[in-house]
Amino acid sequence: MLNTPKLNLMQELIAGSSREELIWLSGYLAGVVAAQVHPVAATPQVVAQVQTALGAASVVESAVAPAINKITIAYGTETGNSKKLASDFAAKAKKKGINAKLVGLEQYRLNDLPKEEYFFTVISTQGDGEPPAAAKKFYDHIHQNGLKLEKLKYGVLALGDTAYPLFCKAGEDVDQQLQKAGGQRIVSLEKCDTDYESQALGWFDHILQQLSTSGAGGNGDAQNGSGLAVSGAALPATGGAAATARAGKKVYTGTVLANINLNDRGSAKQTHHLEIVAEGVDYQPGDSLGLVPENPVLVVDAILGLTGVDAEQKLAVRQEEHSVGHLLRKKLNIIYLPERVVKKYAAIVQQDIPETRIGLLDLLKIYPVRDGAQFHEVMAILEPTAPRLYSISSSPEAHDGEIHLTVAKDKFSVNGEVKHGLCSDHLSQLAPDQTFEFYIHKNSQFRLPAPDKDVIMIGPGTGVAPFRSFLAQRDSTGASGKNWLFFGDQHFTTDFLYQTELQNWLQTGVLTKLNTAFSRDQAEKVYVQHKMLRESEELFRWLENGASVYVCGAKEPMSVDVEMALLHIIQKEGKKPLAQAEAYLDELRESGRYVKDVY
Ligand SMILES: Cc1cc2nc3c(=O)[nH]c(=O)nc-3n(C[C@H](O)[C@H](O)[C@H](O)COP(=O)(O)OP(=O)(O)OC[C@H]3O[C@@H](n4cnc5c(N)ncnc54)[C@H](O)[C@@H]3O)c2cc1C
Ligand SMILES: Cc1cc2nc3c(=O)[nH]c(=O)nc-3n(C[C@H](O)[C@H](O)[C@H](O)COP(=O)(O)O)c2cc1C
Repeated sequence: MLNTPKLNLMQELIAGSSREELIWLSGYLAGVVAAQVHPVAATPQVVAQVQTALGAASVVESAVAPAINKITIAYGTETGNSKKLASDFAAKAKKKGINAKLVGLEQYRLNDLPKEEYFFTVISTQGDGEPPAAAKKFYDHIHQNGLKLEKLKYGVLALGDTAYPLFCKAGEDVDQQLQKAGGQRIVSLEKCDTDYESQALGWFDHILQQLSTSGAGGNGDAQNGSGLAVSGAALPATGGAAATARAGKKVYTGTVLANINLNDRGSAKQTHHLEIVAEGVDYQPGDSLGLVPENPVLVVDAILGLTGVDAEQKLAVRQEEHSVGHLLRKKLNIIYLPERVVKKYAAIVQQDIPETRIGLLDLLKIYPVRDGAQFHEVMAILEPTAPRLYSISSSPEAHDGEIHLTVAKDKFSVNGEVKHGLCSDHLSQLAPDQTFEFYIHKNSQFRLPAPDKDVIMIGPGTGVAPFRSFLAQRDSTGASGKNWLFFGDQHFTTDFLYQTELQNWLQTGVLTKLNTAFSRDQAEKVYVQHKMLRESEELFRWLENGASVYVCGAKEPMSVDVEMALLHIIQKEGKKPLAQAEAYLDELRESGRYVKDVY
């Protein structure tokens, strides 16, 4: 290929170069070629960029210069896991010399989408198969008709939890919609369960390898114009050769050590402090415990009685074979069916049933099945029971080998009849030595800051749970940062959860300040946001000094009112108009200094 003078020159150069110089040279040449393949990037700056990117520190890792040097990594997150992964992905890409733009989907400029060339999304699923609130605008945008994304080459990493009926639904939807709009899927949709790290990292590594080895395609992948494998051939949905084994979900067995109602006699509430013994559980303050509640025996027995089905009969549902009794008791949601299941039930029994949520037992009573065979059809449309999450109120440092929870027994009424929530009722009744299975739901953004930084915690009701964990952790580790807690509930005498512990921490200085709001102890309702407003000046001073703000508990109205109070404080004390106060809060949010875990 080379004429003799060129060949001689090259051989001379090779002979006189060290191994490192040769690696650098090969990267440099690949960069020059890449710049020629992509005319947009074919500038001296790009070549210089490649040179810089292949600087001494990264020479070995980036032996081959990136063929594609600009990608966008967009994340949609609720509890920070997708953001954390997307950031790791961007950092890895940058190390490889790829210019990776990292952006949250809430801030993503939708008009940029048709201009994107390489676009990778990391998105979780929330609620009942929905996208995270922050990704809703993007999600709706890509669902509109007539969207054309013909330039787009994309890949989607979906975070979810196999315990939910609609596993990784939001990620699946994004993947499908981008393709529908003309986008080219260059790597298969990767769906990850709660222990997602190694699987996600495998997916990233695979993409980066493909991006940086222009035309390498040693595995026989189909190639697009830029040398990147296309149409998912590179990485099968279950994790390809490059992806490490699926971690899935680590399930632990816990044994109840204690179960104490924290509310005193006369309270309208029941909030249970559970201490659970479980060894080797990997969690951090800010994480939650997830479990799938069992259905009440009475309801299961009534269903079996009504249908005459044998509880021991084996049935395969969703690729697993269990007895009917086991499925009804431990696996399937029978208590409060979603409308989509009621609709399918109506089709099976061929009845006109209003589209509403209802329990299976009531359905069977009002619209009975014909026989056992028809009931088996019904079993096949039932969905798995969704897990429930509880903020962990213990600290790995302070409560070695234990996990603590703070569970409010959910109470509501249906047609005048008082009922209790399935899981909170079950947990409230657990006795010492009883066991149950659980897993850890990581919350990558609800994390304590550096030990010397101050924290302001706003957690009325069970919202106090993660803050008990924070305080115990800071106490055990001797963190020097100041800690300020706003707690509230109905009455001082009956509802001051963890009163003794909190007051002890106040005395020992672990808790710098404690403000309480007992809403029903006086004629006018007083809530945590009112106490915050009364502490306006000092609260703003803490913020200005770098404190982080954490909010946990009821999403509505509490977290909305607390946010309004924060805005008001910033406006008043910072002497800022509303728009500037909002920008101040946005900045806190973006820098991870204003985080919520609300439900
Ligand atoms: C990240 C996170 C952290 C959390 N942390 C905590 C915590 O620390 N402590 C805590 O107590 N909770 C916490 N929760 C809430 C918890 O996960 C549960 O949602 C809560 O305990 C209710 O679950 P349940 O099974 O008891 O009630 P469910 O049975 O799920 O009922 C919930 C609601 O559904 C409706 N409903 C249910 N059945 C019927 C029916 N038959 N007819 C009509 N309506 C019905 C009612 O409105 C009821 O209130 C957290 C949630 C999240 C997402
Ligand atoms: C309230 C709630 C509802 C959820 N619903 C679903 C769901 O319907 N399907 C699913 O696959 N995962 C579901 N998940 C699991 C999350 O997608 C999973 O925990 C993920 O790691 C969260 O990532 P994020 O922190 O980026 O939001 C749900 C989690 C929570 C807290």
